[in-house]
Amino acid sequence: MITGTPSSQPLGGVEALLEEARERTLRLVEGVSGPDLDRVHDPLMSPLAWDLGHIAAFEDLWVSREAGTELLREDLADVYDAFETPRTGRGGLRYLRHDELRAYMEAVRERTWRALVRVSPFIAEMLVQHEHQHNETMLQTLQLAEPGVYAPARTPGPGAARAGSRLVGGGSFEMGDAGEGFAYDNERPRHAVDLPAFRIDNGPVTNAAFAEFLADGGYGRRELWSEEGWELRRSEGWERPLYWSAGGGVRRFEQVVELEAELPVMHVSAHEAEAYARWRGARLPSEAEWERAALGEDIPGRLEQLDFGPGPAGPFVGDCWEWTDTEFDGYPGFRPHPYPEYSQVFFRSGYRVLRGASWATRARVARTTFRNWDHPRRRQIFAGFRCVEDA
Ligand SMILES: [Fe+2]
Repeated sequence: MITGTPSSQPLGGVEALLEEARERTLRLVEGVSGPDLDRVHDPLMSPLAWDLGHIAAFEDLWVSREAGTELLREDLADVYDAFETPRTGRGGLRYLRHDELRAYMEAVRERTWRALVRVSPFIAEMLVQHEHQHNETMLQTLQLAEPGVYAPARTPGPGAARAGSRLVGGGSFEMGDAGEGFAYDNERPRHAVDLPAFRIDNGPVTNAAFAEFLADGGYGRRELWSEEGWELRRSEGWERPLYWSAGGGVRRFEQVVELEAELPVMHVSAHEAEAYARWRGARLPSEAEWERAALGEDIPGRLEQLDFGPGPAGPFVGDCWEWTDTEFDGYPGFRPHPYPEYSQVFFRSGYRVLRGASWATRARVARTTFRNWDHPRRRQIFAGFRCVEDA
């Protein structure tokens, strides 16, 4: 039996982490104008000002609960409740703007400092991770925004993509988080999973490899697509990954740049990933296969958010999220903690699991047991995929 390496973070030392998380949040939106913070850039995403207020409201909620006090702003609880307000309707909410927003963020943080002794280490760490996770969401919004909104300087990732594949032997392994450090409820409990042998790519599919699929007419070949994927391809007019242009360029925030061959292809839906895999005579991994392959292969990618782009396709964790073919569900023995709305309400609802982490993920959040999920049709995520074959 192979046992997972502990990869979750130890608890503690949270003041500095909270401060650093806030510095990063503000750093990311530094160059964004007031009106661009306030407006909806894409119906899929919240206004950035909503994300900022929500980060503070989430902190207010959990610190108040732990400390047994009233919310600082009870009137904002509904506005910033992520579960009650779907993203599509957030543009019409009375969320805070400008100076009022900054003042609210600061006031909540002030209270947090005073109450922190009564906040459990788990909840404190959750606040840090929550803020980190919203930073990635905000970067998705900024990438969707039209040119002129955001122009970060990209630091190119050096090196070559990892080519080839390797054999992972069959047998039982321990899947999920061991329960020692911080992890979300959906990563637990750790449980034994039996898998037959399989071959898995050493790195995610590169831009160069995906371009071959395109050149071979992959988007027009019905037999490569699932029924749902083909229907979406037609109704959404998919002809290439989101942000790729017909002329062979790719839009990265403000600029259209030439495709870099060695970087992982990103911004494809799970359906496009599946069509590619079928074209290659392969398939997407199950999330169990992905986690099994990532064990002992835990070389993180650059995980440097301020690079504003991925490094060459390779590691399991760190350059792009990776689609799997598994629907999001609880592990055997799942128990919601600390609230059902984090995971449980999304189980068995057609969401697909993504594994790994992208360049936009903070290193503290990234771990081989982390489970991300979204609709398989979504393309705004910094997500690519790697392929597997039966051995
Ligand atoms: Fe949130």
